[in-house]
Amino acid sequence: MSGADHPTSPSVPAEQGAASAAFGVYVHWPFCLSKCPYCDFNSHVRHAAIDEVRFVRAFAAEIAATAARVPGRTVSTIFFGGGTPSLMQPATVGAILDAIAAHWQIASNAEVTLEANPTSVEATRFRGYRAAGINRVSLGVQALDDAALKELGRLHTAQEALDAVAIARAVFERFSFDLIYARPRQTPQAWAAELKRALAEAAEHLSLYQLTIEQDTPFATLHAAGKLAVPDEDTARALYDTTQAICAGAGLPAYEVSNHARPGAECRHNLVYWHAHEYAGIGPGAHGRLDIDGERHAIATEKRPEAWLMRMESLGHGVIVDDVLTQGEMADEFLLMGLRLAEGIDPARYTRLAGRPLDPHRIAILLAEGAVELTANGMLRVTPIGFPVLDAVVADLAA
Ligand SMILES: C[S@@+](CC[C@H](N)C(=O)[O-])C[C@H]1O[C@@H](n2cnc3c(N)ncnc32)[C@H](O)[C@@H]1O
Ligand code: SF4
Repeated sequence: MSGADHPTSPSVPAEQGAASAAFGVYVHWPFCLSKCPYCDFNSHVRHAAIDEVRFVRAFAAEIAATAARVPGRTVSTIFFGGGTPSLMQPATVGAILDAIAAHWQIASNAEVTLEANPTSVEATRFRGYRAAGINRVSLGVQALDDAALKELGRLHTAQEALDAVAIARAVFERFSFDLIYARPRQTPQAWAAELKRALAEAAEHLSLYQLTIEQDTPFATLHAAGKLAVPDEDTARALYDTTQAICAGAGLPAYEVSNHARPGAECRHNLVYWHAHEYAGIGPGAHGRLDIDGERHAIATEKRPEAWLMRMESLGHGVIVDDVLTQGEMADEFLLMGLRLAEGIDPARYTRLAGRPLDPHRIAILLAEGAVELTANGMLRVTPIGFPVLDAVVADLAA
């Protein structure tokens, strides 16, 4: 991987150009060793070996096709997500990074993250990933309780996950891990103890997700049959409040609904999404937002891995959706993403995107309810009262 930090002036819409210095590349690896019963990500289990050489060719072709549409960008962040990218050989990761560097500049301080499952086998590849150019890992620890891990269908124990965290700490300057809370029968007291244990192992960043029952998953079937109970609303709220208080007390406040970091250690790649900047989506089922000829394109690729491969090999691209967003759609997306952040949004940017300001009457109501506030530097942000009902706040402002 090569590249120097040469800021460019990409040919993007005037409004977005100012805020589009960040350019992210998301690479999706769509395979897992087994499917977790709660997960609805685009992840697939294959019993035959994956032909990584064939996939690398297809990833490189999609990077080339995307770069031809948005040339001259400087990549500030790269994120290998999944599925389970830590099933990839380090050489595969290196080849994909080389393909990115062959078509775009990569900033010298680029953040290059790989999502990893915390099994011992995967941890043995960490040094290889670092040599290939990865400088940050995000580990799916999920729980520090073996019974809970079993219920979540995970293939690792809590100890194995902690061992992987220790290896990540030794190998990478930056790492994060994910936990899922609001699990069946979880009490605020038990979660508080688990979270404190996690914080003792964390460095600078933690992602803490409330268990969501996703449609068409085994958990949804169990839930519908009354065989899997998630915490009721009051308990879920108490779990959320516990999370905020403990993390803030430990110096990792929430900078986004589910993400906590020491100030300055935020995941810069995810900030690209939440700041509504430009990013390329590479691989099966990846999404992108590209600014082409003054218009913002919402792009999605074929989700099924083998169908995506065949498209790549026959058509040279995997794109199945390429919609130009209207002003209203861009403004709504900006609200939806930006209000997830503790820092909030710049109402002036909303006005430029939408071609009209936010409705002052609706803002006044939300201010009176204490759900949002205006900061001294003019940002509009959701308050601790508003965050638990964020969807309603966004819907109110976007309407
Ligand atoms: C792409 S996934 C997983 C990455 C990696 N394959 C793993 O499992 O460790 C990213 C994260 O989303 C979270 N997640 C997935 N499904 C979820 C659900 N239904 N509810 C809450 N969090 C979920 C998990 O914490 C997971 O680590
Ligand atoms: S949670 Fe991770 S390992 Fe489990 S199915 Fe989803 S992507 Fe795969």
